[in-house]
Amino acid sequence: MPFDPDHLVCGVIGAGAMGRGIAQVAATGGMRVLLCDSRAGAAQEAKDFVAKLFARAVEKGGMTAEAKDGVLSNIEIVDAPSAMGPCNIVIEAIVENLDVKRALFAELEGIVAADCILATNTSSLAVTTIGAGLKAPGRFAGLHFFNPVPVMKLVEVIDGVRTESWVGDALMAIGRRMGREPVRLKDAPGFLVNQIGRGFTIESAHLASEGIAGFADIDRVMRDVAGFRMGPFELMELTGLDVTQPASVAIYEQSYHEPRYRPVMLMKSRYEAGILGRKTARGFYDYDAGGKPVVAAERPAPAARPQSVWVSGAEADGSAALTALLRELGASIESGATPSAAALILVTPLGDDATTCAVEQGLDPQHTVAVDTLFPMVKRRTIMTTPVTDVAYREMAHGLLASDGKPVTVIRDSPGFIAQRVVAMICNIGCALAQNRTAVPADIDKGATLGLNYPHGPLAFGDLLGPAKILKVLANMQRAYGDPRYRPSLWLTRRARLGVSLATPDA
Ligand SMILES: NC(=O)c1ccc[n+]([C@@H]2O[C@H](COP(=O)([O-])OP(=O)(O)OC[C@H]3O[C@@H](n4cnc5c(N)ncnc54)[C@H](O)[C@@H]3O)[C@@H](O)[C@H]2O)c1
Repeated sequence: MPFDPDHLVCGVIGAGAMGRGIAQVAATGGMRVLLCDSRAGAAQEAKDFVAKLFARAVEKGGMTAEAKDGVLSNIEIVDAPSAMGPCNIVIEAIVENLDVKRALFAELEGIVAADCILATNTSSLAVTTIGAGLKAPGRFAGLHFFNPVPVMKLVEVIDGVRTESWVGDALMAIGRRMGREPVRLKDAPGFLVNQIGRGFTIESAHLASEGIAGFADIDRVMRDVAGFRMGPFELMELTGLDVTQPASVAIYEQSYHEPRYRPVMLMKSRYEAGILGRKTARGFYDYDAGGKPVVAAERPAPAARPQSVWVSGAEADGSAALTALLRELGASIESGATPSAAALILVTPLGDDATTCAVEQGLDPQHTVAVDTLFPMVKRRTIMTTPVTDVAYREMAHGLLASDGKPVTVIRDSPGFIAQRVVAMICNIGCALAQNRTAVPADIDKGATLGLNYPHGPLAFGDLLGPAKILKVLANMQRAYGDPRYRPSLWLTRRARLGVSLATPDA
């Protein structure tokens, strides 16, 4: 760093939701902060907001009055960017508009010293593009915080194509001084976190738009089966489609229509109709007068039970896991090489639909039901039918698998059920990010756990479930859909075939 890290002067331009949080964490990290906003009074309002937060922290005993005064005295309100001369770094958090941001940085070039770092907090514009017109683009980079800044520990440090390496190194250190957990990446559409997040939201929207399951069922499965804290539709409700849909389109356009990020009509039409989520009191869910989402109760488990069950051995691990569960449930399990005429036939596919299993394994499709065994069947179970599965057999499978009181979600035929499909997509996007050297595996995983609150990062999730199984899910989905959207990343394919962790770097 060309400056003393203990005496940093940090300019923050834009004192809105993000700028005030950035000013707060910079001041808390011991930096002198110069804060300005083009709207008169906005910077002072931001400082007052931080002062109120700190006053509450003092009341609750989380901070001493001296510490509060010390940090607040670090924040100085200035009138205009022209006052940023003493800064070692200036962070821009103004309106998300390329021309306005470019004009601001061009102005700053004439104000700050030659070794002052210029950083943008843009969420959807390419860092390289914003910096392209600068006289000295080498000292320009992205520093992408998450909302609310003081709560969200992650910060993405983004090297544009012309960013010099010392700038990213310095931003990693500055991020840590702000009490953040920085990750380092190369400029990419949606950076790390917003790219990974497409696997969760867009894939789930594709599932719903194919009529496989309803919004509430997909949310339940992603929470209870895959372990996400919030379902994809609940998340989109909270964020609002006015944020999620344009971000999805931006990533798709910037990546030259990478099929993995292909947006979904279901989201576009709702966005255009103004059905945005919680903020419009209508979204994927309806809302009651108190603003709570209305979620229809699940259908109670039927009393039906099969006389006997035959489990396909085509997937050895899935067959073993399901057989063990059926034993616990007291089912009568057939041991023959083929099912008896009346048996309930259970298959445990990875990425195949129930129809493919029945046809390719020569099983009676009217008696066949598929069970997702890739995830522990502890909190909830997912089953799916072929289009011709006899309703009585579906009811027997549902009744049996719910007989210990665990909920069962019944979906229409789907290559990859719900959880297999969405998690494989997230894992594949993580692998693609590793393959194209956007970031190292540890940072990709950190981005997802800290920035998205996922139970595991994309690569760690793949390792947990088994890289070979994720590869199989994707390959079978690609076969079923004929869509390059599901083509496995070479990063994943190679590591799965070699039997090594997805975190394994190239030698
Ligand atoms: N809100 C988020 O969740 C989030 C997350 C990450 C990044 N971002 C990015 O951070 C930036 C700011 O977002 P926000 O949510 O804080 O917006 P905001 O609307 O809350 O605040 C923007 C502030 O910038 C000021 N401003 C606008 N033009 C200006 C200019 N030319 N000079 C000085 N001040 C100017 C506005 O008066 C306003 O106070 C955007 O680029 C956004 O994409 C937002």
